[in-house]
Amino acid sequence: MSAQILDGKAIAAELRESIRQEVDRQVAAGNSRPGLAVILVGEDPASQVYVRNKKIACEKAGFNDVSEVLPAETTQEEVLALIDKLNADPEVHGIIVQLPVPDHIDPEEIIERIDPCKDVDGFHPYNVGRMATRMPIMAPCTPHGVMTMLSKTGIGLRGLDAVVVGASNIVGVPQLLELLNERATVTICHSATKNLPEKVAQADLVVVGVGIPEMVKGEWIKPGAIVIDVGINRLEDGRLVGDVEFEVAKERASWITPVPGGVGPMTIATLLENTMKAAYKLDCKSK
Ligand code: GUN
Repeated sequence: MSAQILDGKAIAAELRESIRQEVDRQVAAGNSRPGLAVILVGEDPASQVYVRNKKIACEKAGFNDVSEVLPAETTQEEVLALIDKLNADPEVHGIIVQLPVPDHIDPEEIIERIDPCKDVDGFHPYNVGRMATRMPIMAPCTPHGVMTMLSKTGIGLRGLDAVVVGASNIVGVPQLLELLNERATVTICHSATKNLPEKVAQADLVVVGVGIPEMVKGEWIKPGAIVIDVGINRLEDGRLVGDVEFEVAKERASWITPVPGGVGPMTIATLLENTMKAAYKLDCKSK
């Protein structure tokens, strides 16, 4: 039987609409619009597309977009000075630096400089620590977007065997924490993992974010498993594919995300959600 499709595009559109309505309510009550600063250093083509999409989503949701595109030769000190300025600006509620950054920029120092209350990517060690101690405030957008999608299946995560493939700071590690906090039993796999096909074959839920086209084979998937594909890869023939062999996997899975139109749109919608929370909620206790 063919899997049900987890339509990220539709779920994200619903979330964005609810955010837009909340912003309208807040503005009608005299509050300011959420302000999001997306900083792009250099001209990485994929990052340019992501940043453009974030900008459009911001405008549609009624946010103030205060994005900054900086030339590739911008120094570390200049990026830090810009972050200091945005940290101090009361009209800016969220700050993200699009990754990857050029080689001469140290991303860790940049991430740590962002005020944790404005860290809408959830990458600051303060926010990672909050998540790891089951007191999350700002959750990284892609894994949290995956959690929103999973809630739409109506399947409880408690006690499920979950396998996360890929252990990046952006996807795999925060995904592990999110699933653990929902009481799933989580195995995280990476490039040094032995017997990956066997590990995947045991999973009730598989989340893959490795950036390698169709690396997880459809025949590894346990019949009835939920498959979440975070990857998006362009092949030489121009096709976009995920990190999972979709055509075979969809014949075994119970639910599966498509690529494109699966996890991707959820990342941006969750970024808006985090920025709105940063703008209107007073639950950040980092200071
Ligand atoms: N590069 C790829 N994904 C992300 C993300 O979620 N946030 C940032 N800042 N950079 C990224």
